Amino acid sequence: MAVITIDGIRLNVENNRNVLDCALEAGVYIPHLCHHPALSELGSCRMCIVEVEGRDGVETSCTMKAKDGMVIHTKSERLTKLRTLAMELLLSAHPEDCSTCPVYGDCELQTLMQYIGASGGRVKMRSKGFKSDDRNPLFIHDMNRCILCGRCVRACDELRGVKVLRYNKKDMETYVGTIHDKLLADADCRFCGACAQVCPTGTIRDKVSFIGSGKTREDVMIPCKAACPAGTDVPRYV
Ligand code: FES
Repeated sequence: MAVITIDGIRLNVENNRNVLDCALEAGVYIPHLCHHPALSELGSCRMCIVEVEGRDGVETSCTMKAKDGMVIHTKSERLTKLRTLAMELLLSAHPEDCSTCPVYGDCELQTLMQYIGASGGRVKMRSKGFKSDDRNPLFIHDMNRCILCGRCVRACDELRGVKVLRYNKKDMETYVGTIHDKLLADADCRFCGACAQVCPTGTIRDKVSFIGSGKTREDVMIPCKAACPAGTDVPRYV
């Protein structure tokens, strides 16, 4: 066990536990975006930065291991400025159409943007120029909305073990796709929905919207194994 202090609160935590989870469990909110409790840490969004007494600079709390005696601060003018800049950079290539976005009101990026009080205006906007891809059953992929948090790639690998999703490059842009940009079904996707469930934006989303319906994906899907001659367990919407 280790004793750490976060914003003046002394906590007994597991040695080497990530500091972000320790803080959240203790009721200390640290903004975060690429972190997901079911996935390994990537440390890409820089929202969860904190300061540690005795250390220069700032560090991402999702990748920081708790060590006995650590004194951590989650709020300061410097942290606010750096989080705002990190958010502005994320928004610089993100469409500015929140109010008409299909996941309006159900978007972690939008919620965090409002919490931090940042907008995309200060850093020049640019378009990634991807076409929204709706060729696949069940899901729409709109890589213009992607912030490369990597949750979908990690979920596909770590939760399902299928590794269908990966980082690809086109010109100078990195995007999430499949090997040789195959359709999901041709790339052995099981259509489990894990990628859509962990996506914090409207990048990978269900073709049928559940927002406000009171239904979940599981409510409206049936496995087709029994009916499918190929014996696939790819689920379908009823
Ligand atoms: Fe820690 Fe994204 S949540 S870097």
